[in-house]
This record gives sequence, structure tokens and C-alpha cells, in this order.
Amino acid sequence: MAINKTVEFMRSKLEGCKPKVGIILGSGLGQFADNVEDQIIFSYDELPGFPDASVKGHAGRIILGKVQGTEVAVLQGRAHYYESGKPDIMRLPIETLKELGCETLLLTNAAGSLRLEAKPGSVMLLTDHINFTGVNPLFGEPETSRFVDMVNAYDPDLRHQFHQAAITQNIKLHSGVYIWFCGPSFETPAEIRAAKILGADAVGMSTVPEVILARFFGLNVAAISIITNMAAGMSDKDLSHEQTMENASMAANDLQALLGEFLLNYKKT
Ligand code: HPA
Repeated sequence: MAINKTVEFMRSKLEGCKPKVGIILGSGLGQFADNVEDQIIFSYDELPGFPDASVKGHAGRIILGKVQGTEVAVLQGRAHYYESGKPDIMRLPIETLKELGCETLLLTNAAGSLRLEAKPGSVMLLTDHINFTGVNPLFGEPETSRFVDMVNAYDPDLRHQFHQAAITQNIKLHSGVYIWFCGPSFETPAEIRAAKILGADAVGMSTVPEVILARFFGLNVAAISIITNMAAGMSDKDLSHEQTMENASMAANDLQALLGEFLLNYKKT
């Protein structure tokens, strides 16, 4: 099985490094990986079963080491459902994190904002999600553990730790509900109006299947969106991937400070 091969191969090179926290970096947020000390790097190409991270802004590497004293495994680049039509495309990387010893998964992404006060360049901690795609990464999973409880999927204790980190670092941290649209086309203004009525605060094309998989594998989850744009129909700017990449860098420093402070104080029982 690819998972056994991958984990065995990685363990043979890890020299005792046992990551506690897995981190998936979203579009334009890859520079956080520069903070990892004592780096051990694997390219997705050398890991059986890992996807290629083909979207511009995703490097396709996993970097293990330490950030602020906490052992981490940073995935620089994710695969999206819209690339392959496979909702479980991130299953093996997430299972690998679990097998290597991770107890927590931190997800980051670029997102559009549905809230006027959460402007491009700001950061939002996710409290919950709406799966608007009708697909699920656990389709076909035979074990009864597929009936995953999604209440408190975004761990309240980790959320508290992030709010504390934001206070210490003097960063305004919004909270909100993320809605997953499958993409790759952006949403229509009518879809965004509908999403608002449904209770969404941010919109994006990733993260939700990864949260479901992480909970399936028993990982604690926290997720942060970098707001790169106002959602469709909420501003007169055209939506584009280039804009996402450019604006992600506006909040990258805040995200970096937030993750660093969180990892400095990280504890989970
Ligand atoms: N919609 C979907 N995905 C996104 C957006 C958006 O407005 N911005 C960044 N990723």
C-alpha cells in the first residue's frame, strides 16, 4: 500500500524527528516554510501516492523540522478537488501526517470575504464550514468510522489558542464560517448572495475535504483563511488567480506571526 511505503521511506530519513503539528500552506503562503529549523525536505514526486501540486503558487514539498520549538511537518502545496475531480486527493498526505505522529492539522487557505469588515489582507479563523459541493472525500470508504462527527471539527481549544496568539501579536483575527465551492471557476454574484443567506463568511475552493479527512483520521483541526478579495459581486475588481497570489502576500506576515506565536505556546492533550 502506498501509505506504508511512503511512511516507511520518510521514517528512514527522519532521524528521530516526530512531528506533532501538520501544516498545509495555501496559495501564495508557501514562504512560511522558510521558518522551519533543521529542515528535512521531501518532494511530493518522491513520495508514493502524493499528488502533484500543479497550481501556480504551490511548491509540492513536505518540510519537517521545528518552528518555535514545536516539531512540525509543513506541506507546501495542496492538490484541489477541481484539478482531478477526486475529492479524496489529499487523503494520503493527511494519513501520512497522522502516521508520522501528528496530532493536530493546521490548514491555511486563500479565500474571498463575504463580510464587509473582513477586507483583503485580513485573516479569519474558521469556526465551521458549509460543504456546498455535494461531494465528500469519504465516498466509498467502507469502515463505519466514515460517519464522522463534524460538531466542533474546528477544535474550540485550538481556536482559543489562536485568539490568544492574535492578542499577543496585536493582530486582528476575524472568525467565520467557510463555504466550499468546487471551482475552478469563481462563484457568481448570485451564488455569493445565496452563500451569505446560508451563513457563510468566507468562500474558497479547498480545505473542507481536508478537514473531513483529518477528522476521519482523528486529527485535531484549526484553519485560517487569508482574505485575498471580496467575494464575487461585492467589489468592482475582477476576480483572478493572479489577484489571489498578489493579495495573499499582504497578509502573509500576519499569518506567519500568528502561526509562530501559536507554535511557541502549542499544547494539546
Ligand atoms: N472564491 C473562491 N476561492 C477563492 C476566492 C474566491 O473569491 N478567493 C481566493 N480563493
